[in-house]
Amino acid sequence: MTIQYFSSVTAPVNIATLKYWGKRDSSLNLPTNSSISVTLSQDDLKTTTTVATSSSFSTDQLYLNGKLESLASQRSQSCLEELRKYRKQLEENDPSAPKLSQWPLRIVSVNNFPTAAGLASSAAGYAAMVYAIAQLYELPLDRSELSKIARQGSGSACRSLYGGFVAWEMGTEINGDDSKAVQIADVSHWPGIKAAILVVSAEKKEVPSTGGMQLTVKTSDLFDYRIKKVVPERFEKMSKAILAKDFETFAELTMKDSNSFHAVCLDSYPPIFYMNDTSKRIVKIINELNKSQGRNVAAYTFDAGPNAVIYYEEKDERLVLGVIHEFFGTLQGWEKKKGVEYVVPKLF
Ligand code: PMV
Repeated sequence: MTIQYFSSVTAPVNIATLKYWGKRDSSLNLPTNSSISVTLSQDDLKTTTTVATSSSFSTDQLYLNGKLESLASQRSQSCLEELRKYRKQLEENDPSAPKLSQWPLRIVSVNNFPTAAGLASSAAGYAAMVYAIAQLYELPLDRSELSKIARQGSGSACRSLYGGFVAWEMGTEINGDDSKAVQIADVSHWPGIKAAILVVSAEKKEVPSTGGMQLTVKTSDLFDYRIKKVVPERFEKMSKAILAKDFETFAELTMKDSNSFHAVCLDSYPPIFYMNDTSKRIVKIINELNKSQGRNVAAYTFDAGPNAVIYYEEKDERLVLGVIHEFFGTLQGWEKKKGVEYVVPKLF
């Protein structure tokens, strides 16, 4: 009889409100600045990953959205090697433990949203893979420890190990031992916060984040100012705003940081454009909305793609979604086809 072991988990997408952009070590995925994000709910944008291991499997295999994909990248290999290293230690300490570290893995992963369209698919993907294998291997590691492994797959993946408001502390050690995710506040801390995702385009992004970051680090003159001066101050202020449930400040810092991130992209040479004309229209509309209310009722943020995430408080939902619908609802193809589609995932 062939013995198999299974484990299945889901990991949600996280969307940064203080962006990670730049690596100080690209093989360990160590960032040049700390970052902050909000994790979306398990019910909506998520990756579901099932892993199995068996002595009868011949090689490691990954199926992503039904297609066989390569696991040969250094990012995937680093995660698998680390997890196997920890499992091996466990097997050495407990000779009765099955030698799972020596068996091939079969990983089956499904995203319920467009892959690689700037909707943080790699974050949810690596977080789910690392968590599922750690569970299969019964590793006695807490989420911060696991976040260091997921980080090696995709930097932002480390933040998807936690729900709620999460910081990725950049750390200073050369081996990355202190570059990990920590929770700023749990999901229950600020339950009134919501996010709407405006899917401007579900196409794959033109410039993958790793290449984009390298270009920015090498060529942007603004970049140094961003990582040394702007982000450290913003990190403190944003953490405080989250703990104080101060939406006005949280929104301002979120929008400013999105602007700052896209500014260093534009300042790269040749420039990187992630936002398109529809994205810019969204920025304008949110600014007008906030101006008309005399306060920040909504905050936009854009990752490495044209899609927008709009954060707002539940009490302002009708106002915010009403405006979005007013401006984009009449576009041909609203909802599901072309134009801008929006989904409002539950955050917690
Ligand atoms: O984790 P990566 O390598 O896909 O980079 C993510 C970069 C941004 O999404 C633009 C910002 C962030 O902090 O998530």
